[in-house]
Amino acid sequence: MDWNLINLDADSATPLYLQLCSSLTEAIKTGKLEPGDQLPSERKLAGLLAISRTTAVNAYEELEARGLVRSYVGRGTFISARPDRLGAQFAWRGKVSPLIQRHLGPDIRALLASNKPQMISFSAGQPAYEYFPVERFLAVTESRLRSQPRDTLGFLPAEGHPYLRECIATREGVRHEEVMIVAGTQQALDLIARCLIYPQDRVVMDWPGYLGAIQSFQFSGAVLSGWDMTLADLDELEDSLIKHRPKLLYLNPSFQNPTACTLSLETRQGIIDLARKYRTPIVEDEAYRDLYFATEPPPSLFELEGSGLVLYIRSLSKTFAPGLRLGYIVADEAIIDQLALVKAQGDLFTPGLSQLALADLLTNGVYDNYLKLLRLKHQERARVMEASLQEAFPEGLSWQKSQGGLYIWAQLHHLESGELLAEATKAGVSFMPGSSFFFEPGGKRALRLCYSGTEPEAIRSGVERLKRAYNQALGMSGFSL
Ligand SMILES: Cc1ncc(COP(=O)(O)O)c(C=O)c1O
Repeated sequence: MDWNLINLDADSATPLYLQLCSSLTEAIKTGKLEPGDQLPSERKLAGLLAISRTTAVNAYEELEARGLVRSYVGRGTFISARPDRLGAQFAWRGKVSPLIQRHLGPDIRALLASNKPQMISFSAGQPAYEYFPVERFLAVTESRLRSQPRDTLGFLPAEGHPYLRECIATREGVRHEEVMIVAGTQQALDLIARCLIYPQDRVVMDWPGYLGAIQSFQFSGAVLSGWDMTLADLDELEDSLIKHRPKLLYLNPSFQNPTACTLSLETRQGIIDLARKYRTPIVEDEAYRDLYFATEPPPSLFELEGSGLVLYIRSLSKTFAPGLRLGYIVADEAIIDQLALVKAQGDLFTPGLSQLALADLLTNGVYDNYLKLLRLKHQERARVMEASLQEAFPEGLSWQKSQGGLYIWAQLHHLESGELLAEATKAGVSFMPGSSFFFEPGGKRALRLCYSGTEPEAIRSGVERLKRAYNQALGMSGFSL
């Protein structure tokens, strides 16, 4: 904050402390001062602005009364909130923790809300769940409810239902003590961050990378450093490990969110060598590895490493249904034990009914058949989106052909994706702007389009809407070829 920019007019009818109060409010509103920032002491501020100490004291008191700053005896005065929207209840102003204010952006909530019927959503990463085996799901849930009310309706261990843990352990080739069931892998990331990260710890992660991981790590106070998976430069990764000595390395190695790129076997082996050399634990988030079209990705880091350095997290949202909120962690028993303690503190345990239904569908082959069908349907939808984009954007937009996962990561040539999104929302189509996946400014011209959750005809209409929005935004930007 440049204090020279604060202009106070001694001749004005408005008292100096109120003028100061307005200037500081404006600075908070425009982001020059952020929640959590410390303000100078009243004495120092008086010196900086050549005003009396009483004026500074009155201004801070007024800001505190408006809920924008909080003073702590012996520590000083801190920004505690951004100016509220009109009508927000006074009692709640300034009460939200500065850590939340600083690190929680609106992107995930906007993404969840983009699933409205009138909107064609290319934003949320969801599978073609119109093909979900509803009848088989109903049959197993009914049977479990009737035969095992205690396990479906009662309390369960925080680690997960023993039967599902055993099923997963068999599939992953580990012991059940090394498996923990979570309510979606977003929860796994939250647990890992809360369990392992101490404020100011470093985390090296994909850049661009999964928005939910960025937020979980930052929320726990981690300082993030990026590694660009699309370049897969192992020397750069080694420099980063030497320089930052991170607490952990977070990677999403197959059909990565958002770039859809997959690390080669050679790069995976190189990463493991580095992780061993610098004793850096890896959090491997394989949300998409089973969603390949033609070729299975190389073995996971977890499989390749084998000595407990990798914490392996798997989502069932992309291969089963996001609405059932299921995922799991495979890791060393000691860390599973700690993570289960943290989970028990948060939501106690994951609902038993969906755990048992999943276990039954894993055992009777229904899950695997559905997964095979999803691969086919997703591939078909990817090709429809690529062909529609090709037709609508013979120039102005570029992307790589999808080989699996759920996304196309595209680059605009003449516009920023924020400009396009404003028009696209009006036209009834949504996507994720690239900047959401960068924890520092970046990705302004990128956009992530999810093809898998939309039926082919709607994909075509969505791309037409996108093209109309593009023409509109281009016209407004004044760009001409
Ligand atoms: C890489 C990655 N990890 C985790 C998640 C969260 O998934 P879940 O629905 O299992 O919480 C997502 C969701 O998009 C993701 O892309």
